[in-house]
Amino acid sequence: MHAMESSWFRIFILVGVALLFPAIVECRVRHYKFNVVVKNMTRLCSTKPTVTVNGKFPGPTIYAREEDTVLIKVVNHVKYNVSIHWHGIRQLRTGWADGPAYITQCPIQPGQSYVYNFTVTGQRGTLFWHAHVLWLRSTVHGALVILPKLGVPYPFPKPDHEAVVLLAEWWKSDTEAVINEALKSGLAPNVSDAHTINGHPGPVTNCPSQGGYRLGVAPGKTYMLRVINAALNEELFFKIAGHKMTVVEVDATYVKPFKTDTIVIAPGQTTNVIITADQASGQYMVAASPFMDAPIAVDNQTGTATLHYTGVQTTLATTLTRIPPKNATPVANNFVDSLRSLNSKTFPAKVPQTVDHSLLFTVGLGINPCPSCKPANGSRVVASVNNVTFVMPTTALLQAHFFGIKGVFTTDFPGNPPFAFNYTGTPPANLQTSSGTKLYRLPYNATVQLVLQDTGIVAPENHPIHLHGFNFFAVGRGIGNFNPKTDPKKFNLVDPVERNTIGVPAGGWVAIRFRADNPGVWFMHCHLEVHTTWGLKMAFLVDNGKGPNESLLPPPKDLPKC
Ligand code: C2O
Repeated sequence: MHAMESSWFRIFILVGVALLFPAIVECRVRHYKFNVVVKNMTRLCSTKPTVTVNGKFPGPTIYAREEDTVLIKVVNHVKYNVSIHWHGIRQLRTGWADGPAYITQCPIQPGQSYVYNFTVTGQRGTLFWHAHVLWLRSTVHGALVILPKLGVPYPFPKPDHEAVVLLAEWWKSDTEAVINEALKSGLAPNVSDAHTINGHPGPVTNCPSQGGYRLGVAPGKTYMLRVINAALNEELFFKIAGHKMTVVEVDATYVKPFKTDTIVIAPGQTTNVIITADQASGQYMVAASPFMDAPIAVDNQTGTATLHYTGVQTTLATTLTRIPPKNATPVANNFVDSLRSLNSKTFPAKVPQTVDHSLLFTVGLGINPCPSCKPANGSRVVASVNNVTFVMPTTALLQAHFFGIKGVFTTDFPGNPPFAFNYTGTPPANLQTSSGTKLYRLPYNATVQLVLQDTGIVAPENHPIHLHGFNFFAVGRGIGNFNPKTDPKKFNLVDPVERNTIGVPAGGWVAIRFRADNPGVWFMHCHLEVHTTWGLKMAFLVDNGKGPNESLLPPPKDLPKC
């Protein structure tokens, strides 16, 4: 009798709440706890102390649904300062939860904690999270999966199963030592020792293979693979022997589906593909290998995994795949040129048709004097945007902006190269860069066209540029120097791919467009960690618009202090 009464009462309350607050029933708050701890990864035949989240490499996957609020409590148990970035999450008005150290927050100091609090708005798909301080991202990263709103289907046939496929790089030695050594010498850091797929390298010399990652598939079924490149410094080709992939999404935006046997994916990018287990029952090789079409050293180890049909003996020979040569530019171009926004009624491509701020930024390397850099003969490799090597502040930029702290940054970042030269031709005599903590200021809702122009200084190189706080449309791309007269005529303003990280082709340019509808300070940088370290980074300062809905929220109480 009692039970009966209380359950009726509960139903009464639930119905009441549902009528009063219909939204509460749909959206959820998701809680996660991230303990940043040191762990030894025996699986990778290494005894190096590895900084991880919850002792896992890769770290835990975060699942959320579009419109959910996500609360992640990060507790720092290691000796380094830590901050975590939710790569690709727009963070509308919540820049405090974006994560890049000294840009939107002071890092979380050893023994301290911080709760990242953000709501997923207007996004669904695959993203990832990673440490955004020092080189900790090498092992502190994991997937972030945003499911569509309840009852909203994918704009393609629902796959039978889904799996996260995280690609990364592994160094046998401590990555902090690797980069510190490089900065002391003035030279490039050592390349990694292995490429990993879901934390497994595949066979590596002197490391008895533990079999590598196996993706079990059942004949006839379809699988959506959420492929993420979490590597520090390498663009990758990704292939599965004998199976075509249908690309359906990149950087959490839907694309017009197309079939390919190879995808190219830069650090910071994600790609969802659907495969059908329609081949003869067996084992098929899955491979991640480097793409580098410049004379730059790479880690040549191919990361491997296995697509394993159910019931097949693991002793059966694996069908191998032919790995593209590392300089296979046509393979990469073919993939990139195939990407188009879905641009459907439900998911329109809202490409800005007019431009308020037209910008040209050169991205590339430079050489500055460094008297103490003996191995590099008294000089060091640096990197810059419009010849400015970004200097990290010691107070977070967003705080300085919000509280009006003077002397932390200036807003004179040049909208065009300070001096013009043949960017992709013979380098100028003077390879030196200037330095500063310069921001480019934008009024709320301004439309921006930004041409990112690679320079051939030192060497032309592909730079995957990532913009925080926004998605952008890649409206044009070319080789050589951007021509402001003829090239814009060829721009795609109808269905260009929308993403958060774009590869500037080696010795070429890309044009992107976005609307500055998110107030705050937003980092933009090369997602090759070595280039970020060298200074290939800058930030946009977007002013508040009118009223609270167009203004940055105040910082949370537990925002870390510097
Ligand atoms: Cu995924 Cu600023 O980085």
